[in-house]
Amino acid sequence: MLDIIILAAGKGTRMKSDLPKVLHTIGGRPMLSHVINSAANLGESQMMVVIGHGCEQIERSFSENDQLVFVHQEQQLGTGHAVQQTLSFLSENSSALILYGDVPLVKETTLKRLLSRVDENTLALLTVDLPDPSGYGRIIRDSSGSVTAIVEQKDASREQLQIQEVNTGILAVNSTYLQKWLPLLSNDNAQREYYLTDIIALAVAGGLHIVCEQPDADWEVQGINNRQQQAELERIYQRNQADELMAKGITLLDPGRFDCRGELHCGADVVVDVNVLFEGHNTLGNAVSIGPNCIIKDAIIGDGTVIKANSVIESTIIGKSCDIGPFARLRPGTELADQAKIGNFVETKKTIIGEGSKVNHLSYIGDANLGSGVNIGAGTITCNYDGANKHLTKIGDRAFIGSNTALVAPVTIGDGSTVGAGSTITREVDDNTLALTRAPQRILADWQRPTKKES
Ligand code: UD1
Ligand code: CA
Repeated sequence: MLDIIILAAGKGTRMKSDLPKVLHTIGGRPMLSHVINSAANLGESQMMVVIGHGCEQIERSFSENDQLVFVHQEQQLGTGHAVQQTLSFLSENSSALILYGDVPLVKETTLKRLLSRVDENTLALLTVDLPDPSGYGRIIRDSSGSVTAIVEQKDASREQLQIQEVNTGILAVNSTYLQKWLPLLSNDNAQREYYLTDIIALAVAGGLHIVCEQPDADWEVQGINNRQQQAELERIYQRNQADELMAKGITLLDPGRFDCRGELHCGADVVVDVNVLFEGHNTLGNAVSIGPNCIIKDAIIGDGTVIKANSVIESTIIGKSCDIGPFARLRPGTELADQAKIGNFVETKKTIIGEGSKVNHLSYIGDANLGSGVNIGAGTITCNYDGANKHLTKIGDRAFIGSNTALVAPVTIGDGSTVGAGSTITREVDDNTLALTRAPQRILADWQRPTKKES
Protein backbone atom coordinates (compact mmCIF):
# COMPACT_ATOMS: atom_id res chain seq x y z
CA MET A 1 0.00 0.00 0.00
CA LEU A 2 1.16 3.52 -0.81
CA ASP A 3 0.23 6.74 0.98
CA ILE A 4 0.74 9.80 -1.20
CA ILE A 5 0.92 13.10 0.69
CA ILE A 6 0.80 16.31 -1.35
CA LEU A 7 1.64 19.49 0.56
CA ALA A 8 -0.43 22.43 -0.63
CA ALA A 9 -1.32 24.53 2.40
CA GLY A 10 1.09 27.41 1.81
CA LYS A 11 -0.18 30.82 0.85
CA GLY A 12 2.00 31.55 -2.13
CA THR A 13 2.46 35.18 -1.09
CA ARG A 14 4.82 35.89 -3.95
CA MET A 15 2.18 35.08 -6.57
CA LYS A 16 0.41 38.26 -5.36
CA SER A 17 -2.94 36.68 -6.06
CA ASP A 18 -6.34 35.98 -4.51
CA LEU A 19 -6.23 32.52 -6.07
CA PRO A 20 -4.50 29.83 -3.97
CA LYS A 21 -1.10 29.12 -5.53
CA VAL A 22 -1.75 25.48 -6.45
CA LEU A 23 -4.77 26.54 -8.54
CA HIS A 24 -2.61 28.69 -10.81
CA THR A 25 -2.21 26.85 -14.08
CA ILE A 26 0.38 25.16 -16.22
CA GLY A 27 -0.91 24.14 -19.64
CA GLY A 28 -4.37 25.40 -18.72
CA ARG A 29 -4.72 23.08 -15.69
CA PRO A 30 -4.10 23.85 -11.99
CA MET A 31 -0.54 22.97 -11.05
CA LEU A 32 -1.90 20.68 -8.33
CA SER A 33 -3.66 18.56 -10.96
CA HIS A 34 -0.31 17.89 -12.66
CA VAL A 35 1.08 16.53 -9.40
CA ILE A 36 -2.05 14.42 -8.88
CA ASN A 37 -1.73 13.00 -12.41
CA SER A 38 1.96 12.15 -12.02
CA ALA A 39 1.13 10.25 -8.84
CA ALA A 40 -2.08 8.64 -10.07
CA ASN A 41 -0.52 5.48 -11.50
CA LEU A 42 1.97 4.45 -8.85
CA GLY A 43 0.00 1.40 -7.78
CA GLU A 44 -2.61 0.85 -5.10
CA SER A 45 -2.62 4.03 -3.06
CA GLN A 46 -4.54 6.70 -1.26
CA MET A 47 -3.82 10.34 -1.99
CA MET A 48 -3.94 13.02 0.69
CA VAL A 49 -3.70 16.72 -0.05
CA VAL A 50 -2.78 18.98 2.86
CA ILE A 51 -4.57 22.30 2.40
CA GLY A 52 -4.88 25.52 4.38
CA HIS A 53 -4.92 28.80 2.50
CA GLY A 54 -7.84 28.90 0.06
CA CYS A 55 -8.88 25.39 1.09
CA GLU A 56 -12.55 25.81 0.06
CA GLN A 57 -11.56 26.92 -3.42
CA ILE A 58 -9.13 24.02 -3.78
CA GLU A 59 -11.66 21.43 -2.59
CA ARG A 60 -14.27 22.86 -4.95
CA SER A 61 -11.89 22.71 -7.92
CA PHE A 62 -11.21 19.03 -7.29
CA SER A 63 -14.68 18.00 -6.12
CA GLU A 64 -15.00 15.60 -9.08
CA ASN A 65 -12.02 13.56 -7.95
CA ASP A 66 -13.38 11.37 -5.16
CA GLN A 67 -10.02 9.60 -4.77
CA LEU A 68 -8.58 12.60 -2.93
CA VAL A 69 -8.57 12.98 0.84
CA PHE A 70 -8.24 16.63 1.86
CA VAL A 71 -6.48 17.13 5.17
CA HIS A 72 -6.69 20.55 6.78
CA GLN A 73 -3.72 22.32 8.27
CA GLU A 74 -5.24 25.30 10.08
CA GLN A 75 -1.94 27.10 10.66
CA GLN A 76 1.08 26.71 8.43
CA LEU A 77 3.73 25.86 10.99
CA GLY A 78 6.10 24.14 8.58
CA THR A 79 6.41 21.16 6.25
CA GLY A 80 6.86 18.74 9.19
CA HIS A 81 3.71 20.09 10.82
CA ALA A 82 1.88 19.72 7.49
CA VAL A 83 2.75 16.02 7.21
CA GLN A 84 1.86 15.57 10.89
CA GLN A 85 -1.77 16.43 10.04
CA THR A 86 -1.97 13.29 7.90
CA LEU A 87 -0.74 10.84 10.54
CA SER A 88 -4.18 9.62 11.58
CA PHE A 89 -5.02 8.88 7.92
CA LEU A 90 -1.90 6.89 7.06
CA SER A 91 -2.17 3.18 6.40
CA GLU A 92 -0.20 0.83 8.60
CA ASN A 93 3.23 -0.13 7.36
CA SER A 94 2.73 1.60 3.99
CA SER A 95 5.27 3.44 1.90
CA ALA A 96 4.61 7.17 2.25
CA LEU A 97 5.53 9.45 -0.65
CA ILE A 98 5.72 13.18 0.01
CA LEU A 99 5.10 15.57 -2.90
CA TYR A 100 4.58 19.32 -3.27
CA GLY A 101 1.56 20.93 -4.89
CA ASP A 102 3.76 23.68 -6.29
CA VAL A 103 6.30 21.36 -7.95
CA PRO A 104 4.10 20.38 -10.87
CA LEU A 105 6.30 18.72 -13.49
CA VAL A 106 7.79 15.81 -11.57
CA LYS A 107 7.59 12.70 -13.75
CA GLU A 108 5.95 9.41 -12.91
CA THR A 109 9.12 7.53 -13.90
CA THR A 110 11.17 9.52 -11.39
CA LEU A 111 8.66 8.80 -8.61
CA LYS A 112 8.67 5.10 -9.49
CA ARG A 113 12.45 5.04 -9.34
CA LEU A 114 12.39 6.75 -5.93
CA LEU A 115 9.75 4.35 -4.59
CA SER A 116 11.70 1.32 -5.79
CA ARG A 117 14.44 2.28 -3.31
CA VAL A 118 12.28 2.35 -0.15
CA ASP A 119 12.18 -0.52 2.32
CA GLU A 120 12.12 -1.07 6.11
CA ASN A 121 15.67 0.16 6.44
CA THR A 122 15.82 2.92 3.87
CA LEU A 123 14.54 6.43 3.37
CA ALA A 124 14.64 7.53 -0.29
CA LEU A 125 15.31 11.18 -1.00
CA LEU A 126 15.13 13.03 -4.30
CA THR A 127 18.02 15.46 -4.56
CA VAL A 128 19.47 17.58 -7.31
CA ASP A 129 22.78 19.37 -7.90
CA LEU A 130 22.23 23.02 -8.68
CA PRO A 131 24.80 25.57 -9.85
CA ASP A 132 22.90 28.10 -7.72
CA PRO A 133 21.59 26.24 -4.65
CA SER A 134 20.42 29.34 -2.79
CA GLY A 135 17.11 29.07 -0.99
CA TYR A 136 17.14 25.29 -0.82
CA GLY A 137 17.90 22.90 2.02
CA ARG A 138 21.44 21.48 1.63
CA ILE A 139 22.26 17.77 1.74
CA ILE A 140 24.88 17.06 4.39
CA ARG A 141 27.07 13.98 3.89
CA ASP A 142 29.72 12.48 6.17
CA SER A 143 33.28 11.60 5.16
CA SER A 144 32.11 8.26 3.73
CA GLY A 145 29.55 10.05 1.57
CA SER A 146 26.47 8.94 3.51
CA VAL A 147 23.69 11.49 3.97
CA THR A 148 23.42 12.53 7.62
CA ALA A 149 21.09 15.54 7.59
CA ILE A 150 19.44 18.35 5.66
CA VAL A 151 20.18 21.90 6.73
CA GLU A 152 17.90 24.71 5.63
CA GLN A 153 19.45 27.76 3.97
CA LYS A 154 18.62 30.00 6.93
CA ASP A 155 20.20 27.61 9.43
CA ALA A 156 23.26 26.70 7.37
CA SER A 157 26.86 27.58 8.19
CA ARG A 158 29.01 29.31 5.63
CA GLU A 159 30.62 26.02 4.59
CA GLN A 160 27.28 24.27 4.35
CA LEU A 161 26.03 27.04 2.05
CA GLN A 162 28.71 25.99 -0.47
CA ILE A 163 27.04 22.58 -0.92
CA GLN A 164 25.34 22.31 -4.28
CA GLU A 165 23.36 19.14 -3.67
CA VAL A 166 19.93 20.28 -2.49
CA ASN A 167 16.73 18.81 -1.14
CA THR A 168 13.87 18.78 -3.66
CA GLY A 169 11.45 18.13 -0.78
CA ILE A 170 10.27 14.90 -2.39
CA LEU A 171 10.96 11.77 -0.36
CA ALA A 172 9.59 8.34 0.42
CA VAL A 173 9.75 6.36 3.65
CA ASN A 174 7.76 3.73 5.53
CA SER A 175 4.78 5.34 7.27
CA THR A 176 5.65 3.62 10.57
CA TYR A 177 8.64 5.95 10.81
CA LEU A 178 6.59 9.06 10.13
CA GLN A 179 4.32 8.06 13.01
CA LYS A 180 7.40 7.75 15.19
CA TRP A 181 9.46 10.77 14.13
CA LEU A 182 6.99 13.57 13.40
CA PRO A 183 5.86 14.02 17.04
CA LEU A 184 9.56 14.47 17.91
CA LEU A 185 10.11 17.53 15.67
CA SER A 186 10.79 20.86 17.31
CA ASN A 187 10.65 24.37 15.88
CA ASP A 188 13.92 25.38 17.44
CA ASN A 189 15.39 26.88 14.27
CA ALA A 190 15.80 30.12 12.33
CA GLN A 191 12.25 30.07 10.90
CA ARG A 192 10.47 28.79 14.03
CA GLU A 193 8.96 26.07 11.84
CA TYR A 194 8.54 22.33 12.20
CA TYR A 195 10.85 21.16 9.42
CA LEU A 196 10.08 17.89 7.68
CA THR A 197 13.75 17.85 6.73
CA ASP A 198 14.70 17.17 10.36
CA ILE A 199 13.47 13.58 9.93
CA ILE A 200 16.65 12.85 7.97
CA ALA A 201 18.84 13.19 11.06
CA LEU A 202 16.26 11.21 13.06
CA ALA A 203 16.34 8.45 10.44
CA VAL A 204 20.11 8.28 10.54
CA ALA A 205 20.04 8.20 14.36
CA GLY A 206 17.54 5.35 14.15
CA GLY A 207 19.92 3.33 11.97
CA LEU A 208 18.20 3.90 8.64
CA HIS A 209 20.11 4.34 5.44
CA ILE A 210 19.37 7.43 3.28
CA VAL A 211 19.47 6.73 -0.47
CA CYS A 212 19.36 9.57 -2.96
CA GLU A 213 17.83 9.51 -6.41
CA GLN A 214 18.08 12.27 -8.99
CA PRO A 215 15.40 13.37 -11.46
CA ASP A 216 16.13 13.02 -15.20
CA ALA A 217 15.86 16.78 -15.62
CA ASP A 218 16.11 19.70 -13.21
CA TRP A 219 12.74 21.16 -14.27
CA GLU A 220 11.01 18.14 -12.75
CA VAL A 221 11.77 19.46 -9.29
CA GLN A 222 11.51 23.18 -10.01
CA GLY A 223 8.93 24.81 -7.73
CA ILE A 224 6.67 27.74 -8.49
CA ASN A 225 6.80 30.64 -6.07
CA ASN A 226 6.15 33.57 -8.39
CA ARG A 227 4.78 34.41 -11.84
CA GLN A 228 8.21 34.32 -13.47
CA GLN A 229 8.80 30.73 -12.34
CA GLN A 230 5.28 29.84 -13.47
CA ALA A 231 5.96 31.30 -16.93
CA GLU A 232 9.29 29.48 -17.10
CA LEU A 233 7.72 26.10 -16.29
CA GLU A 234 4.87 26.82 -18.72
CA ARG A 235 7.40 27.13 -21.56
CA ILE A 236 9.19 23.95 -20.44
CA TYR A 237 5.87 22.10 -20.27
CA GLN A 238 4.89 23.32 -23.75
CA ARG A 239 8.29 22.44 -25.17
CA ASN A 240 7.98 18.91 -23.74
CA GLN A 241 4.58 18.49 -25.38
CA ALA A 242 5.94 19.85 -28.65
CA ASP A 243 8.84 17.38 -28.51
CA GLU A 244 6.44 14.49 -27.89
CA LEU A 245 4.30 15.51 -30.87
CA MET A 246 7.30 15.89 -33.15
CA ALA A 247 8.54 12.47 -32.04
CA LYS A 248 5.19 11.14 -33.29
CA GLY A 249 5.80 12.72 -36.71
CA ILE A 250 3.99 16.03 -36.48
CA THR A 251 5.60 19.06 -38.07
CA LEU A 252 5.68 22.14 -35.83
CA LEU A 253 7.18 25.03 -37.76
CA ASP A 254 8.37 26.54 -34.50
CA PRO A 255 8.05 24.39 -31.36
CA GLY A 256 8.81 27.54 -29.36
CA ARG A 257 5.61 29.10 -30.63
CA PHE A 258 3.26 26.21 -29.96
CA ASP A 259 0.77 25.93 -27.10
CA CYS A 260 -1.51 23.10 -26.17
CA ARG A 261 -3.70 23.50 -23.10
CA GLY A 262 -5.34 20.12 -23.11
CA GLU A 263 -4.99 17.06 -25.33
CA LEU A 264 -4.04 16.92 -28.97
CA HIS A 265 -4.33 13.72 -31.00
CA CYS A 266 -2.93 13.79 -34.53
CA GLY A 267 -2.75 11.51 -37.54
CA ALA A 268 0.26 11.33 -39.86
CA ASP A 269 1.81 14.30 -41.66
CA VAL A 270 0.04 17.02 -39.74
CA VAL A 271 1.62 20.45 -40.14
CA VAL A 272 1.12 23.21 -37.58
CA ASP A 273 2.39 26.70 -38.36
CA VAL A 274 3.51 29.25 -35.75
CA ASN A 275 1.47 30.69 -32.87
CA VAL A 276 -1.27 28.12 -32.88
CA LEU A 277 -3.13 27.54 -29.60
CA PHE A 278 -4.94 24.25 -29.00
CA GLU A 279 -7.35 24.08 -26.07
CA GLY A 280 -9.41 21.22 -24.63
CA HIS A 281 -9.61 17.97 -26.60
CA ASN A 282 -8.62 18.18 -30.25
CA THR A 283 -8.32 15.43 -32.82
CA LEU A 284 -6.67 16.07 -36.18
CA GLY A 285 -6.76 13.50 -39.00
CA ASN A 286 -3.96 12.69 -41.44
CA ALA A 287 -2.35 15.51 -43.42
CA VAL A 288 -4.27 18.27 -41.69
CA SER A 289 -2.61 21.65 -42.05
CA ILE A 290 -3.10 24.47 -39.57
CA GLY A 291 -2.00 27.97 -40.58
CA PRO A 292 -0.44 30.56 -38.31
CA ASN A 293 -2.28 32.27 -35.42
CA CYS A 294 -5.21 29.87 -35.18
CA ILE A 295 -7.07 29.05 -31.96
CA ILE A 296 -8.59 25.58 -31.97
CA LYS A 297 -10.68 24.31 -29.09
CA ASP A 298 -12.52 20.98 -28.75
CA ALA A 299 -12.48 20.26 -32.47
CA ILE A 300 -12.40 17.16 -34.64
CA ILE A 301 -10.78 17.85 -38.02
CA GLY A 302 -10.83 15.34 -40.87
CA ASP A 303 -8.02 14.11 -43.15
CA GLY A 304 -6.55 16.61 -45.58
CA THR A 305 -8.41 19.62 -44.25
CA VAL A 306 -6.61 22.95 -44.44
CA ILE A 307 -7.20 25.63 -41.80
CA LYS A 308 -5.73 28.91 -42.96
CA ALA A 309 -4.27 31.74 -40.88
CA ASN A 310 -6.09 33.49 -38.04
CA SER A 311 -9.06 31.17 -37.82
CA VAL A 312 -10.84 30.59 -34.50
CA ILE A 313 -12.59 27.24 -34.14
CA GLU A 314 -14.55 25.97 -31.15
CA SER A 315 -16.60 22.82 -30.50
CA THR A 316 -16.76 22.03 -34.19
CA ILE A 317 -16.63 18.86 -36.28
CA ILE A 318 -14.95 19.30 -39.66
CA GLY A 319 -14.94 16.64 -42.39
CA LYS A 320 -12.22 15.62 -44.82
CA SER A 321 -10.58 17.93 -47.37
CA CYS A 322 -12.33 21.04 -46.14
CA ASP A 323 -10.89 24.48 -46.69
CA ILE A 324 -11.29 26.96 -43.82
CA GLY A 325 -10.21 30.58 -43.44
CA PRO A 326 -8.20 32.72 -43.38
CA PHE A 327 -10.07 34.65 -40.67
CA ALA A 328 -12.92 32.16 -40.26
CA ARG A 329 -14.80 31.85 -36.99
CA LEU A 330 -16.49 28.50 -36.41
CA ARG A 331 -18.48 28.63 -33.20
CA PRO A 332 -19.90 25.72 -31.16
CA GLY A 333 -22.21 23.35 -32.92
CA THR A 334 -20.76 23.81 -36.39
CA GLU A 335 -20.51 20.60 -38.42
CA LEU A 336 -18.96 20.56 -41.85
CA ALA A 337 -19.23 17.61 -44.23
CA ASP A 338 -16.33 16.68 -46.52
CA GLN A 339 -15.00 19.27 -48.99
CA ALA A 340 -16.92 22.16 -47.48
CA LYS A 341 -15.39 25.63 -47.76
CA ILE A 342 -15.60 28.46 -45.26
CA GLY A 343 -13.80 31.61 -46.33
CA ASN A 344 -12.68 34.85 -44.77
CA PHE A 345 -14.80 36.78 -42.29
CA VAL A 346 -17.43 34.08 -42.09
CA GLU A 347 -19.01 33.22 -38.74
CA THR A 348 -20.95 30.02 -38.22
CA LYS A 349 -22.80 28.74 -35.15
CA LYS A 350 -24.98 25.65 -34.60
CA THR A 351 -24.86 25.03 -38.29
CA ILE A 352 -24.63 21.90 -40.40
CA ILE A 353 -23.02 22.39 -43.78
CA GLY A 354 -23.34 19.62 -46.37
CA GLU A 355 -20.72 18.10 -48.62
CA GLY A 356 -18.95 20.50 -50.95
CA SER A 357 -21.01 23.51 -49.85
CA LYS A 358 -19.31 26.90 -49.81
CA VAL A 359 -19.63 30.01 -47.69
CA ASN A 360 -16.72 31.96 -49.02
CA HIS A 361 -16.93 35.54 -47.80
CA LEU A 362 -18.32 37.87 -45.13
CA SER A 363 -21.34 35.92 -43.87
CA TYR A 364 -23.11 34.95 -40.67
CA ILE A 365 -24.67 31.51 -40.80
CA GLY A 366 -26.24 30.58 -37.46
CA ASP A 367 -28.87 27.96 -36.54
CA ALA A 368 -28.85 26.68 -40.08
CA ASN A 369 -28.94 23.42 -41.95
CA LEU A 370 -27.37 23.46 -45.40
CA GLY A 371 -27.53 20.59 -47.86
CA SER A 372 -24.73 19.60 -50.22
CA GLY A 373 -23.37 21.64 -53.11
CA VAL A 374 -24.85 24.87 -51.74
CA ASN A 375 -23.26 28.20 -52.63
CA ILE A 376 -23.73 31.10 -50.24
CA GLY A 377 -22.86 34.49 -51.72
CA ALA A 378 -20.85 37.16 -49.95
CA GLY A 379 -22.62 39.08 -47.24
CA THR A 380 -25.38 36.53 -46.60
CA ILE A 381 -26.91 36.73 -43.13
CA THR A 382 -29.20 34.23 -41.45
CA CYS A 383 -31.45 36.45 -39.30
CA ASN A 384 -31.80 33.73 -36.67
CA TYR A 385 -32.84 35.86 -33.70
CA ASP A 386 -36.10 37.78 -33.40
CA GLY A 387 -35.11 39.44 -30.15
CA ALA A 388 -36.62 36.67 -28.07
CA ASN A 389 -36.04 33.29 -29.74
CA LYS A 390 -33.66 31.62 -32.17
CA HIS A 391 -35.04 30.13 -35.39
CA LEU A 392 -33.78 27.69 -37.99
CA THR A 393 -32.84 28.33 -41.62
CA LYS A 394 -32.93 25.31 -43.96
CA ILE A 395 -31.24 25.45 -47.34
CA GLY A 396 -31.65 22.53 -49.75
CA ASP A 397 -29.04 20.79 -51.92
CA ARG A 398 -27.49 22.85 -54.73
CA ALA A 399 -29.27 26.05 -53.70
CA PHE A 400 -27.58 29.32 -54.70
CA ILE A 401 -27.96 32.32 -52.41
CA GLY A 402 -27.04 35.61 -54.07
CA SER A 403 -24.83 38.13 -52.34
CA ASN A 404 -26.10 40.41 -49.60
CA THR A 405 -29.14 38.32 -48.80
CA ALA A 406 -30.97 38.31 -45.48
CA LEU A 407 -32.67 35.00 -44.70
CA VAL A 408 -35.25 35.76 -42.00
CA ALA A 409 -35.68 32.57 -39.99
CA PRO A 410 -37.61 30.38 -39.66
CA VAL A 411 -37.32 29.93 -43.40
CA THR A 412 -36.66 27.17 -45.91
CA ILE A 413 -35.00 27.42 -49.31
CA GLY A 414 -35.76 24.43 -51.52
CA ASP A 415 -33.33 22.16 -53.40
CA GLY A 416 -31.84 23.71 -56.52
CA SER A 417 -33.40 27.12 -55.86
CA THR A 418 -31.82 30.50 -56.45
CA VAL A 419 -32.16 33.66 -54.38
CA GLY A 420 -31.33 36.90 -56.18
CA ALA A 421 -28.68 39.18 -54.75
CA GLY A 422 -29.84 41.75 -52.22
CA SER A 423 -33.02 39.88 -51.27
CA THR A 424 -34.71 39.69 -47.90
CA ILE A 425 -36.34 36.27 -47.77
CA THR A 426 -39.13 35.82 -45.23
CA ARG A 427 -41.22 33.02 -46.75
CA GLU A 428 -40.52 29.47 -47.91
CA VAL A 429 -38.90 29.15 -51.34
CA ASP A 430 -39.96 26.01 -53.25
CA ASP A 431 -37.52 23.64 -54.99
CA ASN A 432 -36.00 24.80 -58.28
CA THR A 433 -37.43 28.34 -58.19
CA LEU A 434 -35.99 31.84 -58.24
CA ALA A 435 -36.84 34.13 -55.34
CA LEU A 436 -35.96 37.78 -55.22
CA THR A 437 -37.20 40.83 -53.38
CA ARG A 438 -35.10 43.36 -55.17
CA ALA A 439 -36.53 46.91 -55.65
CA PRO A 440 -36.72 47.79 -59.35
CA GLN A 441 -33.84 49.89 -60.58
CA ARG A 442 -34.75 53.47 -61.57
CA ILE A 443 -32.75 55.74 -63.89
CA LEU A 444 -33.09 59.52 -63.70
CA ALA A 445 -31.57 60.95 -66.85
CA ASP A 446 -29.34 64.05 -66.76
CA TRP A 447 -29.37 64.13 -62.98
CA GLN A 448 -26.97 66.62 -61.39
CA ARG A 449 -25.11 65.81 -58.21
CA PRO A 450 -25.17 68.61 -55.60
CA THR A 451 -22.08 70.80 -55.61
CA LYS A 452 -20.31 72.33 -52.61
CA LYS A 453 -21.51 75.84 -51.61
CA GLU A 454 -19.01 78.70 -51.84
CA SER A 455 -18.24 79.96 -48.32
C1 UD1 B 1 11.33 23.13 1.50
C2 UD1 B 1 12.38 22.30 2.22
C3 UD1 B 1 13.74 22.53 1.59
C4 UD1 B 1 13.70 22.24 0.11
C5 UD1 B 1 12.59 23.04 -0.57
C6 UD1 B 1 12.42 22.57 -1.99
C7 UD1 B 1 11.62 22.10 4.52
C8 UD1 B 1 11.78 22.59 5.90
N1 UD1 B 1 12.40 22.66 3.60
O1 UD1 B 1 11.69 24.48 1.77
O2 UD1 B 1 14.72 21.71 2.21
O3 UD1 B 1 14.96 22.55 -0.48
O4 UD1 B 1 11.33 22.83 0.11
O5 UD1 B 1 11.54 23.41 -2.67
O6 UD1 B 1 10.84 21.20 4.28
N2 UD1 B 1 3.64 23.73 3.17
C9 UD1 B 1 2.51 23.36 3.84
N3 UD1 B 1 2.37 23.70 5.14
C10 UD1 B 1 3.31 24.39 5.83
C11 UD1 B 1 4.48 24.77 5.14
C12 UD1 B 1 4.63 24.41 3.82
O7 UD1 B 1 1.63 22.72 3.26
O8 UD1 B 1 3.11 24.65 7.01
C13 UD1 B 1 3.79 23.37 1.75
C14 UD1 B 1 3.85 24.58 0.86
O9 UD1 B 1 2.56 24.91 0.40
C15 UD1 B 1 4.76 24.11 -0.25
C16 UD1 B 1 5.67 23.10 0.40
O10 UD1 B 1 5.02 22.71 1.59
O11 UD1 B 1 4.04 23.46 -1.28
C17 UD1 B 1 7.05 23.62 0.67
O12 UD1 B 1 6.97 24.69 1.57
P1 UD1 B 1 7.92 25.92 1.48
O13 UD1 B 1 7.60 26.84 2.57
O14 UD1 B 1 7.95 26.44 0.10
O15 UD1 B 1 9.31 25.22 1.82
P2 UD1 B 1 10.73 25.76 1.50
O16 UD1 B 1 11.09 26.77 2.53
O17 UD1 B 1 10.84 26.15 0.09
CA1 CA C 1 9.34 26.55 -1.68
